[in-house]
Amino acid sequence: MKNWKTFKERKIVIMIKKIRFLFFSGLIISAFNVYAFDLDLPQAVIDEDYYENDSQDSKKIELGQFLFFDKILSGNQNISCGTCHHPLMDTGDGLSLPIGEGGQGLGITRNTGTGNDAITERVPRNSPNLFNLGAKEFSKMFYDGRAEVDDESPSGFRSPAGDDLPLILDNVLAVQAMFPVTSGAEMAGQKGENIQADLAADGDLVGVWEFIAEKLRNIPEYVNLFQEVFNVSQSEISYAHAANAIAAFEAATWRSDFSPFDQFLRGDRSAISRKAKRGMRLFYNKANCGGCHSGKFQTDHDFHAIAMPQIGPGKGDGIDGNEDFGRERVTGDKDDRCKFRTPSLRNVYLTGPWGHDGAFNTIEAIVRHHLDPVLSLNDYDTSQAVLPSRSDLNEIDFIAFNNNGMRDQIASVNELGSTELSDSEVSDLLDFLRTLTGTNSLDLRKDVPQRVPSGLPVFD
Ligand code: HEC
Ligand code: HEC
Repeated sequence: MKNWKTFKERKIVIMIKKIRFLFFSGLIISAFNVYAFDLDLPQAVIDEDYYENDSQDSKKIELGQFLFFDKILSGNQNISCGTCHHPLMDTGDGLSLPIGEGGQGLGITRNTGTGNDAITERVPRNSPNLFNLGAKEFSKMFYDGRAEVDDESPSGFRSPAGDDLPLILDNVLAVQAMFPVTSGAEMAGQKGENIQADLAADGDLVGVWEFIAEKLRNIPEYVNLFQEVFNVSQSEISYAHAANAIAAFEAATWRSDFSPFDQFLRGDRSAISRKAKRGMRLFYNKANCGGCHSGKFQTDHDFHAIAMPQIGPGKGDGIDGNEDFGRERVTGDKDDRCKFRTPSLRNVYLTGPWGHDGAFNTIEAIVRHHLDPVLSLNDYDTSQAVLPSRSDLNEIDFIAFNNNGMRDQIASVNELGSTELSDSEVSDLLDFLRTLTGTNSLDLRKDVPQRVPSGLPVFD
């Protein structure tokens, strides 16, 4: 009897132990879930992910900084790269669509200009941020990827310049810097206004680059800097050298991998809040944001159609020319219609307005767009667009959007399904996105030089 009791008692004890074990391991597993160890998270960013990470040439970067903010690169000497990618606007311009050469002022105070200088059109795409473009995986530039790494080309890159592209460009970021100066609306000016504008209007890219190089050769401080950095004589200075210096500046200055999320990935599990962790879980799991916003920089560098409302003058596509067919413009493939490159979400809280045409002016609106893209497209509130007003420009801003046929087309190629999230889940997701803000990207005032070698004003 006694023995049997003991046996039964023993069984009960074992059972209690078993239950306790299951209970605690369940707790541990659910804790793991909250901490997301089971999620397919990206690896932490490391130095080797970037160009020239161990041999940063400070003179080259300084030269690049001067050039980036020097209006001498523009045809009418009235706009620099910095005007549209300003540190005070987190390397963008704060507008849905930029006001190019001829406008006055900076950020949301920028106007459309006066008299003969006034702009003739809006620039058709949003000015993107320039964070982390020195990371090697950013092999495609622009929303449609029209400048990209291509090992089959003699220069190593495919771009709108074709075989005219110089052969000495360091990387695709330098390739990109060859183009803003050749755009009439952005930097060159209108035909008849100056030589750079005339060359640009004739499509003579080589002529534009040579013309700018000549301007730089005539400024002694630049000649010294180019000689020092590239070991070239005055007559050998080319715009491609300038582009290489600009790229070195952009890459070194706007590296951004010091966010709470980076700290978390590097092992500090307390770097982000519990709420942000729930958001991270949604991002990489239920809401499948990580399906496209994948990898270390939250982008697959691929092109997708997500039913973004089309605003602004467009790129000459569609019935009235106010559409923008995105990637199809590069590949000529109808399957690429209205596909745009997945943007990196690094510093996304700082970089509004959002989308290739800046259609959305709050981060919540662009995130909610993803939850039901076609409904959001049809419900789009045009009053949120940040577009400095001028009646003739305003008249064309929403032609594409108000055309039902075009809207149906954008909806019909949409590839992003809908996702149901509660309000508190959206709030968690937004908290996660906030953890992608680099602590070293919050205050960029020091990135603006006090002066530039041409002596032209740095202010806009
Ligand atoms: C008038 C405003 C404006 C000026 C001036 C300007 N940009 Fe931009 N920048 C833009 C816009 C708009 C785009 C996107 C265009 C597109 O995707 O078709 C862009 C794209 C870029 C990109 C590509 C970013 C990416 O993620 O693909 C880089 C890099 C860049 N600009 C650097 C520069 C440099 C360097 C200069 C000066 C040589 C410059 N920009 C001058 C408006 C401007
Ligand atoms: C099918 C691929 C895909 C998925 C899935 C996806 N996105 Fe996007 N996302 C894009 C593309 C493409 C754009 C740019 C579209 C454009 O500019 O027209 C974008 C833009 C954004 C932007 C604006 C960024 C900027 O700088 O303008 C945010 C924020 C964003 N996505 C967040 C999310 C979130 C949050 C999720 C999950 C709910 C998500 N995305 C899921 C493809 C995707």
